[in-house]
Amino acid sequence: MKKTAFVTGANKGIGFEIVKQLGEAGWKVLLGARNTQLGEAAVAQLTSKGLDVEFVAIDMTDLKSIEQAADTINKNHRELTLLINNAGMPGAFSRSFTDTKEEDLRNAFEVNFFGTFRLNQRLFPLIKANEGTVVNVSTDMASLDHMQNAAFTLNAFDYNSSKTANNAMTLSMAYEVRDNGAQVFAVTPGFTTTDLNGNAAGGKSKEAAAAIIVGYATDGKRHNGEFLDEKGVFAW
Ligand SMILES: NC(=O)c1ccc[n+]([C@@H]2O[C@H](COP(=O)([O-])OP(=O)(O)OC[C@H]3O[C@@H](n4cnc5c(N)ncnc54)[C@H](OP(=O)(O)O)[C@@H]3O)[C@@H](O)[C@H]2O)c1
Repeated sequence: MKKTAFVTGANKGIGFEIVKQLGEAGWKVLLGARNTQLGEAAVAQLTSKGLDVEFVAIDMTDLKSIEQAADTINKNHRELTLLINNAGMPGAFSRSFTDTKEEDLRNAFEVNFFGTFRLNQRLFPLIKANEGTVVNVSTDMASLDHMQNAAFTLNAFDYNSSKTANNAMTLSMAYEVRDNGAQVFAVTPGFTTTDLNGNAAGGKSKEAAAAIIVGYATDGKRHNGEFLDEKGVFAW
């Protein structure tokens, strides 16, 4: 049976490229997206190239949608060995603690932390049983070490703290599988030119960013409890 992966937030951006690269490497990939039209269009683009890709509807802010996606996978894709939690949003990205509105903080946490938490809890038993891998897509900006670095300028408290909380989830999950064949780790692709940052110039390509994540997810090495960037271990 083919190896099966589930990638969230994959109708575009880094997530779409992750699905493409896994598909090209021979994986069956469940492409998660909240917008059915966009998700199915992305699937059509990849299946037309001969890749084995299927659409799974998932809105990370909607518990029912998360439950449905997890139920579908737990029922129909018991072979799942790779979950890549890629869906994410920047929040208001206010760049100022003082100006951060509680609503913006809640919105960022809802997707980047709670949505991912809800999905992880529902698929973790299957991943554990299959001794599979969970990758939580993080960011340099989630790193507390990075935040106290003199070079740190992007003080987007809503986005950054939601991803820091996500990092803590990575370590909590990793702890739980420390004696199991499964593994959980975080990867930061680094600054990448995508819709998330208004396609800001100077970032790496989506393809290069996806290759970092796919690389660690499929290299056959054990990365449990690590935070990784393109060069290797990144400070929490
Ligand atoms: N770009 C960077 O510089 C950078 C750097 C470090 C880490 N990252 C991380 O990389 C991941 C991918 O980001 P990207 O740069 O590829 O951004 P992107 O192009 O904006 O893609 C984000 C994806 O997440 C989906 N998404 C957002 N909110 C969602 C929700 N409520 N439910 C389901 N899906 C949702 C989007 O769907 P819609 O199209 O429906 O909005 C889209 O598919 C994110 O976790 C981000 O934090 C990005």
